[in-house]
Amino acid sequence: MSRSPSIQLRQYLPHDFEALYDIDQACYEPTIAYSRREMRNYLRFPGADCIVAQWEKKLVGFIITAHEETWAYVITIDVLEAYRRHGVGTLLLRSAEEKLRSAGVRVVGLETATDNASAIAFWQKHGYRKRVVRKNYYPGGRDAFSMTKLLE
Ligand SMILES: CC(C)(COP(=O)(O)OP(=O)(O)OC[C@H]1O[C@@H](n2cnc3c(N)ncnc32)[C@H](O)[C@@H]1OP(=O)(O)O)[C@@H](O)C(=O)NCCC(=O)NCCS
Repeated sequence: MSRSPSIQLRQYLPHDFEALYDIDQACYEPTIAYSRREMRNYLRFPGADCIVAQWEKKLVGFIITAHEETWAYVITIDVLEAYRRHGVGTLLLRSAEEKLRSAGVRVVGLETATDNASAIAFWQKHGYRKRVVRKNYYPGGRDAFSMTKLLE
């Protein structure tokens, strides 16, 4: 696989829904992956935005954010395992942050499992810092770090 020249970002379209659902199912264990209903609800959240990444026309990742005034939240970011470590997640996050910044957002928050080392490394690389541990945050009882970043 080559690097970013073959990655394209675009806005989510309703016909992407099943592909998003499949990617989320592949990225998380069954207790944590979203049901179709949850995924639909998140996409319809007030202030929600979803950007998808295509690799040679195949949908390989996406990010869903929601914002209200100066605060935003990363609902999820998912990249298919075979396409990780090629900058897809970084492109998705930068694009989402850029849109949030333009919308007046100053703080972005998220939760990530305390045992999800790759995600924690990803968030830290992008300037997110651990704030608190939220015990039993996920269905099944795993703990989460709440992380935040101030957008410059
Ligand atoms: C987290 C995730 C979105 C990252 O996507 P990605 O496309 O692999 O990210 P990038 O290639 O842009 O990685 C950027 C940097 O993050 C860090 N990083 C990403 N994955 C890492 C890993 N497995 N181990 C250590 N560092 C990692 C590295 O610093 C990396 O830079 P480098 O490759 O130059 O060393 C992806 O691993 C994923 O979808 N995981 C499953 C779903 C998930 O846990 N999402 C987060 C929920 S909060």
